[in-house]
Amino acid sequence: MSTKMRLGVVYGGRSAEHEVSVVSASAVLREADSARFETVPFGVTGEGHWLTPQESQMQLKRRIAPYHNRMSADVPSLLERQDVLDELRAVDVVFPLVHGVNGEDGTLQGMLEMFGIPYAGCGVAASAVGMDKTLQKRLCDEAGLRIAKYMVVFEHEWESGRGDVIAAIERLGYPAFVKPSNGGSSVGVSKVSSREDLGEAMRLAFGIDRKAVVEETIVGREVECGVLGNELVDASPVGEVIPAGDFYDYRAKYIEDSARLIAPAELPTGAADRIRERAVAAFKAIDGEGFARVDFFLPEDGEPVLIEINTLPGFTPISMFPRLWELAGVSYSELITRIVELGLARGERDAKKDSAAATEGVANA
Ligand SMILES: Nc1ncnc2c1ncn2[C@@H]1O[C@H](COP(=O)(O)OP(=O)(O)O)[C@@H](O)[C@H]1O
Ligand SMILES: [Mg+2]
Repeated sequence: MSTKMRLGVVYGGRSAEHEVSVVSASAVLREADSARFETVPFGVTGEGHWLTPQESQMQLKRRIAPYHNRMSADVPSLLERQDVLDELRAVDVVFPLVHGVNGEDGTLQGMLEMFGIPYAGCGVAASAVGMDKTLQKRLCDEAGLRIAKYMVVFEHEWESGRGDVIAAIERLGYPAFVKPSNGGSSVGVSKVSSREDLGEAMRLAFGIDRKAVVEETIVGREVECGVLGNELVDASPVGEVIPAGDFYDYRAKYIEDSARLIAPAELPTGAADRIRERAVAAFKAIDGEGFARVDFFLPEDGEPVLIEINTLPGFTPISMFPRLWELAGVSYSELITRIVELGLARGERDAKKDSAAATEGVANA
């Protein structure tokens, strides 16, 4: 009998990062320690429908250039797929690698909780907050982290009386960044230099979410730090992104691949330690567990400004997060093991609490 742990890898999904997720999953399926894990792929199509491991394998075998590999299949939704559910029931732990909607945002995590399947990465609340730029800013602000001056604009406010909103935005000043609160991959993010460009920027942001964040532009170096751990959290060395264009937009990330990712970043004395310390604090502020990448700007004065927390950072072997851990001496394969172990430890801890609560409930009934 095999004593290997069955590691389900869920990837693909509905977001603009579907293809990146397929590349990450292919690497995880290949590099996960084969002495410990038997990997079981679960592809999720661009429509959000789950495939069986066999169907997923077939999609993975298609020889299409990386980043063009979008899964699509005429299959019904998960609820109607007993075969997928049976396969899912048979895994020991899941590594969710779906970015964005129904993957990174706490919903997949919630489903796995309901099914009683342990999983890697942040839990339900931290995933949901990690996806929502407004909520994470509030928590990080309260924890004393430096954030950009910002305001939240709801679509209905913008539609009903934008005069006051525009006045408030102009108090923040141009150029301003306009983003969907729940988003990613820079989709719907604009840098706005004048009132004339505001309408289009808001329209793009509201195409993604009912809530937009408008924030002051921070001038500084764009730096990123990985965090790893449950109760005890480690921070990786710090990396730097140098976008070729005006900012790190969708084109730079996925179409032109033009940004330079530098790891480790060459930083003034003390700056890297400060970033690492703030990264852990931000992760704790959102109640993070498992792993995340925390992004900052480092202005001239040396005190990092938090930009965002990514609870499912890019996970291809050349993505910043694995590269930063590689620098810390943790290989890609070892990183997978550590992340899965953290997920299992959390699952075990919480299962004990669930059963203790249930016993208590009976006693009190
Ligand atoms: N306040 C800001 N000042 C300067 N640049 C910013 C600011 N906010 C975002 N950016 C730029 O826009 C990019 C995308 O914004 P980000 O908040 O990270 O959204 P996403 O979740 O889509 O990655 C960042 O990587 C950075 O280059
Ligand atoms: Mg970002």
